[in-house]
Amino acid sequence: MKIAVLGTGGGGRAHAARLAELGHDVVVGTRDPEATLARTEPDMMGNPPYKQWLADHPGITLMTFGDAADAAELVINGIDGHNAVGALSAIAGKLEGKVLVDYAVPFVYNPDVEHPWPTPWGVMPKLDPCDTDSLGEQIQRALPGTKVVKSFVTQEQEIVVNPKAVGGGDHTMFVAGDDAEAKKAVTGLLKSYGWTDVLDVGGIVASRGMEMYAHMHSVIGFALGFGNPFGVKVVR
Ligand SMILES: NC(=O)c1ccc[n+]([C@@H]2O[C@H](COP(=O)([O-])OP(=O)(O)OC[C@H]3O[C@@H](n4cnc5c(N)ncnc54)[C@H](OP(=O)(O)O)[C@@H]3O)[C@@H](O)[C@H]2O)c1
Repeated sequence: MKIAVLGTGGGGRAHAARLAELGHDVVVGTRDPEATLARTEPDMMGNPPYKQWLADHPGITLMTFGDAADAAELVINGIDGHNAVGALSAIAGKLEGKVLVDYAVPFVYNPDVEHPWPTPWGVMPKLDPCDTDSLGEQIQRALPGTKVVKSFVTQEQEIVVNPKAVGGGDHTMFVAGDDAEAKKAVTGLLKSYGWTDVLDVGGIVASRGMEMYAHMHSVIGFALGFGNPFGVKVVR
């Protein structure tokens, strides 16, 4: 299948590499391909410059967000959560009628937040929107002709593409969205990654719970120590 991964961060790289390994035709979207390939420093998460990563992954093509979306049947959103609605709205026409899987978290990185929550790296980012809205819903409202599915967001993307790395794969992944066929397509993709327990948690409104879980995921990560991957299993 022709799949676009919008995003050159660590999560986008994990999906692009695994999808190519599975035999898909993968294109990656970025704001400005030339600027992205000209970077020589690691990104803020310590990922090596994209040009270096791309050289190790022949067959993956880097293009603008719009051209990548245009070239694909299914699109994965890995654009930083705070900027996702703006960037996706700008290419709405290229996403019309397509399935868009969104794993972004609407984190706002502001060191001057009220009631700061100290973390090993400084201060926990704030979620905005939260409680009464979600990024998944905002994206669906901005792109009414696109079938938005919220998924992958409750896990590190390296584990999403390789669930067997934790507990032999015996943990749960979630999908939410208003279009049943789109959720079926995303569930199929998850199964091809190796997931055996995919729980449909309802309409796109369920993105609220999935995004707010980001804080819980972080505190479990603090408790276990980073670099110790874990999963959640819904026992029923
Ligand atoms: N990494 C994970 O395992 C993981 C897990 C769960 C959730 N998430 C969430 O998923 C989202 C993506 O995470 P990630 O780690 O894959 O990548 P990321 O480093 O958070 O984001 C990278 C992407 O965001 C784009 N971007 C940044 N600022 C932008 C702006 N002003 N306008 C348009 N695009 C902009 C970058 O564009 P360029 O390519 O042009 O630089 C790049 O493609 C985040 O919200 C993150 O919190 C990540």
